[in-house]
Amino acid sequence: AEAEQQHQLLSTAVHDTMPGKYVRPESQRPRLDLVVSDARIPVVDLASPDRAAVVSAVGDACRTHGFFQVVNHGIDAALIASVMEVGREFFRLPAEEKAKLYSDDPAKKIRLSTSFNVRKETVHNWRDYLRLHCYPLHQFVPDWPSNPPSFKEIIGTYCTEVRELGFRLYEAISESLGLEGGYMRETLGEQEQHMAVNYYPQCPEPELTYGLPAHTDPNALTILLMDDQVAGLQVLNDGKWIAVNPQPGALVINIGDQLQALSNGKYRSVWHRAVVNSDRERMSVASFLCPCNSVELGPAKKLITDDSPAVYRNYTYDEYYKKFWSRNLDQEHCLELFR
Ligand code: SIN
Ligand code: FE2
Repeated sequence: AEAEQQHQLLSTAVHDTMPGKYVRPESQRPRLDLVVSDARIPVVDLASPDRAAVVSAVGDACRTHGFFQVVNHGIDAALIASVMEVGREFFRLPAEEKAKLYSDDPAKKIRLSTSFNVRKETVHNWRDYLRLHCYPLHQFVPDWPSNPPSFKEIIGTYCTEVRELGFRLYEAISESLGLEGGYMRETLGEQEQHMAVNYYPQCPEPELTYGLPAHTDPNALTILLMDDQVAGLQVLNDGKWIAVNPQPGALVINIGDQLQALSNGKYRSVWHRAVVNSDRERMSVASFLCPCNSVELGPAKKLITDDSPAVYRNYTYDEYYKKFWSRNLDQEHCLELFR
């Protein structure tokens, strides 16, 4: 465990200057001046009584942006506020308390870490994160932090609600592809659920580094709870980086690599990144629905036709996930390796 603690958590230090190990080479910097700040990713109202309109809006968003926001999603605003608060409290804990959870091993089912994959990277990212496995809850909650004291209760409740929301979205997404409503839920098997609580401290030189560099999500669907005050998420659309501006009460949904594969490339798992800023710390809480490790994944049979042959081969999530973590984040799209 001691050997693992060679990387200092950002959340335990004060940063007047930025250490060199966070500085990107010039050609890889975020170019914040080129980011489109007044665009919007699609917003879908899940309480709309017009089901067909919801399904078609979801389908359009998955095709054009790979990202959308949902409002009236059924998760209580007070619960969301307490998730953010308990996350902040966690990162404010004393260094010794947090050090107990530190690990660089991506295979761990609970761990606090920094950057992305410090074992592989040459340049680090301006982020600390707590990563949790969340399903089934009774199996994992006992190992979750018992400080802050309300952590288990609040995060556990949120995980259950997020899972239900995810399955509702699966239905709409399946239908929007012309598949049975239950298709995704059935073919992806007993879903694992993971969470990343991300903490991005204020950064003295945000132009030179990332919170998270460009990546696509390896899982099926991501439900992202963003700080409603501080922007940072950016999504690649038509070759331009679009800033996703926080919309209070909304959750951000994005298509992961497994949905791009399942849709035979019709829906896109798009590149996105998190940038940091010098004024304010930022938090986000990402929930990942992941296919069962052992089921066969790949394009839905119904979407493979003479006009649209299979773009990807079949594989298991276990195979995919190992490949994903064995690489650096900002390389070619991981799915390219499964054609
Ligand atoms: C992520 O892509 O997992 C996190 C993005 C964010 O912090 O907004
Ligand atoms: Fe992501």
